[in-house]
Formats: sequence, structure tokens, C-alpha cells
Amino acid sequence: MDRSLRRVPARSRNKQRGRRRVGGVVFGPMCLTAMLTMAFATVGRAEDTTAVSDHDLQAKIAYCQTCHGPSGQGFHGFYPIPRLAGQQPEYLKNQIQAFIERRRVNNIMFNVAHVLNPAMQTALIAHFNELNPKPIGGAAKDLVPEGKKIFEEGIPDAKIPPCASCHGPDAKGNGPFPRLAGQLHDYIFKKLTNWTKERGQDPTKPDTSAIMEPIAHGLNESQIKAVAAYLNYLE
Ligand code: HEC
Ligand code: HEC
Repeated sequence: MDRSLRRVPARSRNKQRGRRRVGGVVFGPMCLTAMLTMAFATVGRAEDTTAVSDHDLQAKIAYCQTCHGPSGQGFHGFYPIPRLAGQQPEYLKNQIQAFIERRRVNNIMFNVAHVLNPAMQTALIAHFNELNPKPIGGAAKDLVPEGKKIFEEGIPDAKIPPCASCHGPDAKGNGPFPRLAGQLHDYIFKKLTNWTKERGQDPTKPDTSAIMEPIAHGLNESQIKAVAAYLNYLE
């Protein structure tokens, strides 16, 4: 207690003493606790924003760019590397945490993510959310009309709801629902065909991946290809 009190600025220490005299025996300790909590909450927030130097952030962004592309637009490599540009902050946060806790299985992104402190995560998320490059494309264009229909209407026979009902009419996402517009078709294909092997891998910690699981499971290969082609060109 003594050690932590020393970290409280003199002004608030005086205030606390003042309150203690006024508040008396009963209220004193409560006020003190409340104020200490407030004081440390403020210190914590201050540290959050100052912990990332611009130099460190730029270096980290450059590192992400080597795989995710210079504008976070994604990359068609040996394995598809997803677009991060314009992605929803809450979704990005959830995925970084899922990689770290190995609820989402991917060794590359585990290695990348587990060294990022919370302040760096916040700064990177804000950076990628603000980018808006054109989609890199590459999917078969003749599949687009069927994909659009699936996205907007779902597949009633297979009890698949419209993708738009969660991912938004323009596929821009919202909170924990990711943006899909402009996402690489081969990445979407890979994620939807492997869902149950890669996402939600800790049964003791159910997460947002469970919402998407029955939908990924219910789509067949040609339906996935079609909807992926549509999303791949969407700006
Ligand atoms: C060595 C290549 C590489 C680097 C460097 C890299 N990533 Fe990734 N990232 C990947 C791959 C591959 C995936 C796809 C994983 C999968 O298939 O599940 C991915 C996926 C992601 C996802 C999930 C996206 C989604 O739509 O679900 C996020 C978020 C992410 N990376 C953030 C970052 C950030 C932030 C950095 C920089 C700190 C970074 N990545 C650096 C290769 C990389
Ligand atoms: C009931 C709501 C809901 C519906 C309907 C829905 N999704 Fe999702 N979808 C989600 C959620 C939530 C996530 C994020 C899962 C996570 O956090 O792991 C997601 C994630 C995804 C992802 C992974 C994105 C990435 O970057 O890795 C793809 C691809 C996807 N959905 C495609 C679709 C398609 C295609 C449809 C329509 C056939 C659809 N979704 C319908 C809720 C929904």
C-alpha cells in the first residue's frame, strides 16, 4: 500500500487526506480505494497511448506489409494472405487474440501476434482500418452473379441466411462481423472449407467463430466459389 501511494501525485494524495478527515472512519477507506482506482486507471490509459513510438509502429507496419501487401490489400502467394484494409477494429482485435490463444490455429500469425502488446495492437488495428485500396481481384467473373444472389438472399433450401444480414448489405462488416468486401477469393475459399479445423479450437473458450460455423459447414464447394468471387471484386 505504501509503495503504491507514493506513485499517486501529491495533489491527489492531499485530496484523499482531505476526504478522509471529512468522511471519517466509515467512508475514508472507501474513498481512498475509489480514488486510487481512478488514479491508476488514468495512469494506465496514459501509458497505453505513449507506449508505442511512431518509429516502432512504422517498423511493425512495414513488417505486416511484407505479407499483407503495401496497402493491406492482401496477397495471392503460396497461401492466400488476407486483406486487412478497411477491416472492422473489433473483428481484428478478436482475431489477434484468437491467434495468440490458439483458438484460431495458424503458426505464422501466432508468431506474429503473440509479441504485440495491447497498445501496439490498437495502433496497428487503427492503421489497417483506415486503408481503402481497390480489391486485387483475380476470381472467375462468370461466378459473380450467382455469388451476389447467395450473399443477398442466402440459400433457403439449405437454411443458409443471407450473408448480408450479418456482414452488412455492402459487406463492410460491423463490430465482430468482419468486412468481406474486397477479400481475396482464394482466402475466403480456404477459410470456409476449413472452418471447423482452424477456428474455435478451444472448447473451453467458445468465441464468435461459432456463429459462422453452421453457415460455413452448410455451403457446398461451388456455392463457396461463387460467393467468394462476388466478394473478391466488391469495393
Ligand atoms: C509472414 C507473413 C505474415 C506477416 C509478417 C503477417 N501476417 Fe497476418 N496473416 C498471415 C497469413 C498467412 C494469414 C492467414 C491465416 C489463416 O489462413 O488463418 C494472416 C492473417 C491475419 C489476420 C486475420 C485476418 C482475417 O481476415 O481474419 C490478421 C488480423 C493479421 N494477419 C494481422 C497481421 C498484422 C497486424 C501483422 C503485422 C504485425 C501481420 N498480420 C503480419 C501472414 C502474415
Ligand atoms: C448469423 C451471422 C452471420 C451470417 C448470416 C454469415 N456470417 Fe460470416 N461471419 C460471421 C461472424 C460472427 C464471423 C466472424 C467469426 C470469428 O470471429 O471467427 C464471420 C466470418 C466470416 C468469414 C471469415 C472472414 C475472415 O476474414 O477470415 C467469412 C469468409 C464469412 N464469414 C463468409 C460468410 C458468407 C459467405 C456468408 C453467407 C453465405 C456468411 N458469412 C454469413 C457471422 C455471419
